[in-house]
Amino acid sequence: MIVLGIETSCDETSASVLTDKLEVLSNIVLSQDEIHAPYGGIVPELASRQHIKSISYVIEESLAQAGTELDGIDIFSVTQGPGLVGSLLVGLSFAKGLAYSQGKPLIPIDHLEAHIHSAFIENHNISFPILALLVSGGHTSLFLLSKKLEYRLLGSTRDDAAGEALDKIAKFLDLGYPGGPIIDKLAEEGDPRKFSFALPQMSDGSLDFSFSGFKTAALRKIRENKLTKNHPDFKDFLAGFEKSIIRALLANVGRAVDEFHPQSLILCGGVARNRKLRRGFEGFAAAHSLSSYIPAPEFCSDNAAMVAALALEKIKSGDKGALDLSLDVYARR
Ligand code: KG4
Ligand code: ZN
Repeated sequence: MIVLGIETSCDETSASVLTDKLEVLSNIVLSQDEIHAPYGGIVPELASRQHIKSISYVIEESLAQAGTELDGIDIFSVTQGPGLVGSLLVGLSFAKGLAYSQGKPLIPIDHLEAHIHSAFIENHNISFPILALLVSGGHTSLFLLSKKLEYRLLGSTRDDAAGEALDKIAKFLDLGYPGGPIIDKLAEEGDPRKFSFALPQMSDGSLDFSFSGFKTAALRKIRENKLTKNHPDFKDFLAGFEKSIIRALLANVGRAVDEFHPQSLILCGGVARNRKLRRGFEGFAAAHSLSSYIPAPEFCSDNAAMVAALALEKIKSGDKGALDLSLDVYARR
C-alpha cells in the first residue's frame, strides 16, 4: 500500500510518499521563508498564493523521487487543520481533486496529531502511555496518549507559542526570519547565566504555558542594556532567553510526568529542532528513567511524511476517509 501525504497548513508546501511499512520514499518540502523574511513573519495572503504556485511541482517531484505515478497511489491524505485558511484551502482542494480523479480514499489529518505521530516514523514501537510535548511556531501543547490515535490535551499556551516568542524577539532585534534557528545558532556561543528570566506560574495549577511574559521581560532587558547585534553581551542575552523558554517547557513536562506517570516521552514540532531543547529533553528523560523520542529535524518542522504516516495509522484502525471534507481552521483541542 502506497500513501501520498500533502501538507499546506502554514508556509511550507510539502508532499510525501510512504509505504505501509513507514518507509519514506520521498518527503519534499518547499519552504517560503524567503518570501516572508522581509516582513519578519508569515503574510497569509502571500502564503496561499505561493502554495498555489508550488503544489503541482512539489507533488510531481515527490512522486518522481518515490519512483511512482499518480495511479500508483492507493491512499491520499491531507492536512485538514488547524492552520491558515487560505493555505489549508490549497492543499485540501488539490488533494480532493486527486483522490476524486483516481477514485481512491482521502484521509483528513489534524496537523497537531500529525506532529505527534511524526515520532512513529522512525520508531514503530513506543510504549504507552506517552506524554508528548508539541512545540512549534503556532502551538505549544502537552498531550497524553493512552494508545495510538487517542490524544488528551493536558495543557497549551495561553498566549504566544514558544516558537512565536523566539521569532518575535529575533524580529525585534532584526536577526532575520524565522528567528528560532538563528537564535539556536547564536545562543550556542553565549553564556546563559548572565541574563535570567522568572518562570511563569499558573495560579490555577494547570499545565498551560505562557510565553508573553518572557517576551515583555526580554524587550525590557534589550532596552535597558541597549542590546544590539554588536553588543558584547548579545549572545549571552540570547542564550539566557532561549534557556528560560526551555526551562519553562521542561518544568511543565516534569509536572505532567509526576501526575500522569507516562512510560515514554515525545518531543515534536518545529522548535524540537533546537539543539539545546533536544539535549535538555533527553537529559530530563534519562534522569527520570523514561524513553524519549525526538524525530529527526526534517520530521520536526512542517512536512507531509507525518501526514502520510498518520493516515496509514488511521486506515489501519478502519478510517475510510471522505471526499466531502471542509476546512478546520481552528484547533479542535
Ligand atoms: O512546526 P513548524 O515548522 O510550523 C508550525 O506548525 O508552526 O514550526 C516553526 C517554528 C518557528 O517558530 C521556528 O522559528 C521554529 O519552529 N524553529 C526553531 C528551530 N527551527 C525551527 N526554534 C528553535 N530552534 C530551532 N533550531
Ligand atoms: Zn506545524
